[in-house]
Amino acid sequence: MTARQAPVDLRSDTLTRPTPGMRAAMADAEVGDDVYGEDPTVNALEAEVAALLGHEAGLFTPTGSMANMLGVRSLVGAGEELLCDSLAHVVRAELGGHAVLGQVTTRTWSAPRGLLDAEVPLAMATPDAGPHLVSTAAIAVENTHNFGGGTVQPIEQLRRLREGAAAQGIGVHLDGARLWNAHVATGIPLAEYGACADTVSVCLSKGLGAPIGSVLVSGAERIAAARVWRKRYGGGMRQVGVLAAAGRYALAHHVARLVDDHVRGRRLAEAVAAVRPELVEPAAVETNIVVLDLSATGRSATGPSATGLSATEVAAAAKAEGVAISVLGPRTLRLVTHLDVDDAAVEHAAAVLTKVLAG
Ligand SMILES: Cc1ncc(COP(=O)(O)O)c(C=O)c1O
Repeated sequence: MTARQAPVDLRSDTLTRPTPGMRAAMADAEVGDDVYGEDPTVNALEAEVAALLGHEAGLFTPTGSMANMLGVRSLVGAGEELLCDSLAHVVRAELGGHAVLGQVTTRTWSAPRGLLDAEVPLAMATPDAGPHLVSTAAIAVENTHNFGGGTVQPIEQLRRLREGAAAQGIGVHLDGARLWNAHVATGIPLAEYGACADTVSVCLSKGLGAPIGSVLVSGAERIAAARVWRKRYGGGMRQVGVLAAAGRYALAHHVARLVDDHVRGRRLAEAVAAVRPELVEPAAVETNIVVLDLSATGRSATGPSATGLSATEVAAAAKAEGVAISVLGPRTLRLVTHLDVDDAAVEHAAAVLTKVLAG
């Protein structure tokens, strides 16, 4: 065990706890019944996020999954098709919600590191393909890309996607759970990202450190319809200004600091690459997520990994030294930096991972 004993939790940026300042803002929040549209703090949050992203209106939802489902269902009708990459959160991690609740079918393309090449989905799209083929109604893109390793999508690809999709009469949904990270990493205004999609979801409960909450933004009519569906899904909330206040606090205080998470993510990648350069390319780590590919030596997914260890074994060895990391697959690990991980914690994690991976 290295000198620092406090456990370090790198499993996800959803693990943060509200700061004292955030708790004070929650305690002081003005509230009302949001199902009646009368919670002033929720209304202010929705307007603020919509304005930041350059859209007409916003809708506060309890989760990013619900914001994604409401956005996608507003673009894709029952039995129609959503295209997304095969690592996308909407298809891998929302437990089939788009299919079960939205009656949406999906078709995927393969995107190394989740990186968008707009021409790929644009070439796959089959709008108005009935009655023999499924008609494509929308394309989803994720920025930053979670399972891709916090990848920032190139703005020119996003612009091309929107332009090409519009030309085919289909929509674009942006899963921007971590759009704040992309904005901070590139300096590109949020509204420029917002202009690349018909519907955008953003999360307040990931890197920004709020305990709950996402916002879906789009045109006023689409959001009015999504508000009805939110209630139908059981997501009509009452005096949730206390939660929206945490989100507003996060927007005011926790966006610019994401750069610290990005520096710490790169630091972790460098520590790993120093002993196992085949597992990760530090220069490709742009934000707060580091994905380690244990099969990156070109060996088979089921044969021995680069380290000789499975992802589960590496995670267990790190856990025994007080560092929690996520297993994404038999050969894939994920480390995520966040508000509750400081420089000392990162140095401890770097030392432990170096030891475990050097084996
Ligand atoms: C890219 C992405 N989109 C959407 C979500 C869903 O958010 P929630 O867990 O609030 O449903 C997540 C959650 O981690 C995510 O990483």
